[in-house]
Amino acid sequence: MNGAAGMGPIVARDSRELRDCPFGLCDGTGMLYDEATNTAYDCRCRRQIIAQRKARSLSAVIPRRYYDVAFDRYPVNEIEPRAAIRQVRAYIDRVDEHLDAGRGLWFMGPVGTGKTTLAMLVSKAALTAGRSVAIYSLPRLLNEIRDTHRAERSHVDLLDRLTAVDLLHVDDVGAERTTDWVLEELYSIVNARYEDKRSMVITTNILDREALCEQITERTVSRLTEMCDELPLLGHDRRMDPRLA
Ligand SMILES: Nc1ncnc2c1ncn2[C@@H]1O[C@H](COP(=O)(O)OP(=O)(O)O)[C@@H](O)[C@H]1O
Ligand SMILES: [Mg+2]
Ligand SMILES: [Zn+2]
Repeated sequence: MNGAAGMGPIVARDSRELRDCPFGLCDGTGMLYDEATNTAYDCRCRRQIIAQRKARSLSAVIPRRYYDVAFDRYPVNEIEPRAAIRQVRAYIDRVDEHLDAGRGLWFMGPVGTGKTTLAMLVSKAALTAGRSVAIYSLPRLLNEIRDTHRAERSHVDLLDRLTAVDLLHVDDVGAERTTDWVLEELYSIVNARYEDKRSMVITTNILDREALCEQITERTVSRLTEMCDELPLLGHDRRMDPRLA
């Protein structure tokens, strides 16, 4: 476990992920209190908090907007094609198996077709199963990598943790141009996960593979292609929905 060496003792109660309940239910302690019966009980996030300690200070919080994502609710019940939704369901039904095998999902499609929603659904399922998850938009991930650059130790720590987490969820891959140095870092993370058989869930709205390769390098795209099942979403952009016009 080379990653564990850089992580220090697993006691950091003040780390960021422990302050926020990923489901917005408890105060980040993993416990809820029922005043009526005067009892404390485990929050849905409890198992996940324990797993997450291993991945200290990675971003693991489902954004408020996606707390309630579920198969039987809007918009997931309207996202097309339905075959893609069935595939997401099959993934989630056996999420442990898929994570253990290092399999991931790649949602692709134009803006407003439900990519982020479905990716959050997958992350939520992994968190609920007690697995550690890191959720980033690509621009934010690249910023963090850049920010830790000067402090050698924290930089290595970040890369170790990004490699060790059970699921790395990166939204909006290809959304931003960046420097060669950062692209090299991105490749090393993706490649380390590839070699370690660790899953990734990504979304991208760049449908042209060549354009995507130009943004994040061909090597990275080809690794992601091997790790992830591609799920093209065909739905309309909601903002162009005639019902709403
Ligand atoms: N297939 C769909 N039909 C109707 N509305 C949708 C669909 N997919 C997403 N939405 C809605 O559109 C908005 C954008 O969804 P999001 O998952 O962020 O899309 P993307 O990440 O593909 O841009 C959200 O408000 C969501 O509720
Ligand atoms: Mg999105
Ligand atoms: Zn909680």
